Amino acid sequence: MNDNSLKVLFACSELTPWVKTGGLADVCGSLPQALADVGEDVRIVLPGYQSLLQHIPAPTFICIVALPLGNITLCRGNLNGIQVLLVMHESFTNRPGNPYMSDSDRPWADNAFRFALFSQAVGEIAQNRTNQDWQPDIVHCHDWQTGLVPALLSQSDSTPNTSRPATVFTIHNLAYQGNIMIDAYNKLGLPSELLVQDGLEFWNQASFIKGGIAFADKITTVSPTYADEITSKEFGCGMEGLLQHRRDRLSGILNGIDTNIWDPETDPHINTNYTFESIDNKINNKKDLQTQLKLREDPDALVLGVISRLAVQKGIDVIIDAMKQLKKENIQFAMLAAGDSELQQQLQTLAKANPENVSVAIGYDESLAHRIEAGADVFLMPSRYEPCGLNQMYSHRYGTLPLVTSVGGLADTVIDIGDDPAKANGFVIPSANSTLLHDEIMKVIELFKDKTTWRRLQHNAMQIDYSWTASADQYKKLYRQTVQGLPKQKIQLQKNLQ
Ligand code: ADP
Ligand code: GLC
Repeated sequence: MNDNSLKVLFACSELTPWVKTGGLADVCGSLPQALADVGEDVRIVLPGYQSLLQHIPAPTFICIVALPLGNITLCRGNLNGIQVLLVMHESFTNRPGNPYMSDSDRPWADNAFRFALFSQAVGEIAQNRTNQDWQPDIVHCHDWQTGLVPALLSQSDSTPNTSRPATVFTIHNLAYQGNIMIDAYNKLGLPSELLVQDGLEFWNQASFIKGGIAFADKITTVSPTYADEITSKEFGCGMEGLLQHRRDRLSGILNGIDTNIWDPETDPHINTNYTFESIDNKINNKKDLQTQLKLREDPDALVLGVISRLAVQKGIDVIIDAMKQLKKENIQFAMLAAGDSELQQQLQTLAKANPENVSVAIGYDESLAHRIEAGADVFLMPSRYEPCGLNQMYSHRYGTLPLVTSVGGLADTVIDIGDDPAKANGFVIPSANSTLLHDEIMKVIELFKDKTTWRRLQHNAMQIDYSWTASADQYKKLYRQTVQGLPKQKIQLQKNLQ
């Protein structure tokens, strides 16, 4: 921290290592630290989920805050030296497990209430009304769960005495929008003046993510290519018109990764640590993986790793179709996944029929994820869309060559051997299609026999700098532009539908 530091309130709904459903948690767990390292004064604000209590058994009480939706208790914890403000309310503290879903994989019925309440709490902290003597210059919000924050703040007057901070909204995944029926919105008693066409209204619903897109001073997403893609009909999930309209505020900043957690040289989860210089030792991890997953022990079999949410986005159905056509090849699949029960069943059926070559672990397993990254030869990610994607970058670090589709952050990080043989670090197919994937895997099987070329690709992959420094610098610049451009008056809304 120094005189030029900006105060940044980082509002998110997941945080590695405490609560994670996907890459959002990894980003929120490592970007604040990187921002602090480049001099910013950062505090994180997170819902006080029940599962957090095992990590912070006795959070420090700050105050009780009366919000339009109810009273919350604000507490303080600490993650590697960064203050984490916890919004405690029974709708968070009394729910076990996943932050958004019940054990039967249904979204909690009151999610709109929970994240509206959380957003109101963030709004109060942002305006220095929570007994902390700390007012952020920037509130940096992430995904639909915090989309209401810029909307709510846009309605507060910005005068020298009651200034609102500038807002940055980062889209990690535009397909998850937090849309609710207008009736439900009205029942919550949320501000009716926000429910207009140039506000939260979205096809006769109220959209939380639209709050971030329509009202934030700056919008970012997690890769330059996804920033372009979401202004098109194909990837815009209905928000493309608004994103085109706000194009001058939208930019893409590629995620970094936590290079301490994902480091084959020091990773405590894997059988044998290695660097590119000792890459010959990677084979021990392959052997270990094959043994553990009860796959046939065969150094020559091409092991394809998958670690994924089972969702349409990830093209798992495309992998399943390709697998069915690949039965005769000397390849193996090491898969770790959770989500859609139909896809889960199809994968388990394939594993049962081919126990020596297909292993499917259903569930969430951080340690196995590391062992797959280290033990596989190739990592499969044939996503239909991918805002950034972290696993292809983890794979690069581990010398495990990613096979991906040319979308979003995958297009920004993976270079196909056909495109640039000197810089190649993986394999790219144009789109999520099982024939394309099958044909590419056949090519990769051949290339795997050419050890010199394979090593060259591994070398290219392993020497990429994925640390957060470059991205944190870009956010730092963006924060300064945002603060300078902050309008002094509240945003005037028109076209009220009420
Ligand atoms: P997304 O956020 O869309 O799921 P990302 O590639 O950005 O995709 O991040 C996914 C993160 O979640 C990675 O850290 C990945 O290792 C992890 N992950 C996904 N599924 C599992 C699982 N079943 N077990 C352990 N980790 C998982
Ligand atoms: C989302 C996206 C993923 C991205 C992650 C972190 O979950 O699906 O592509 O890597 O957020 O930004």
